Amino acid sequence: LASIEVDVSSLEPGMSLTAKWRGKPIFIRNRTDKEVEEAKAVPLAELKDLNARNANVPADAEATDLERSAGEGKENWIVMIGSCTHLGCVPLGQAGDFGGWFCPCHGSHYDTAGRIRKGPAPENLHVPTFSFVSDTVIKIG
Ligand code: FES
Repeated sequence: LASIEVDVSSLEPGMSLTAKWRGKPIFIRNRTDKEVEEAKAVPLAELKDLNARNANVPADAEATDLERSAGEGKENWIVMIGSCTHLGCVPLGQAGDFGGWFCPCHGSHYDTAGRIRKGPAPENLHVPTFSFVSDTVIKIG
């Protein structure tokens, strides 16, 4: 399947689901305001990977929280390919030193915007092409 549509109407703030697209897990999270604020508060200079790694924004976009998220007005939503950028394990949600995702294979810690903060992974978790086709349905791909 080239693209899938995922109903996210059941996701209250603080809830996530994992969809499957092209054989890969896709993490969709409705972030809490606190998670968004935490990610926004991080100076870019502290990031290991400065690139947004987001297929929906220009290739040279910086890894601000806004550019990592679903964008203006939908900043609480984050959609990412659930594949650690080190060697491809599936990270665990709401875990690790930065409250985002943690890859148990070799200890990579991602923050609440899915940005690599500590450990061997070289890049932020990748954001696939996606769009909201309605307030509650996300099309991936
Ligand atoms: Fe995730 Fe190595 S595969 S840290």
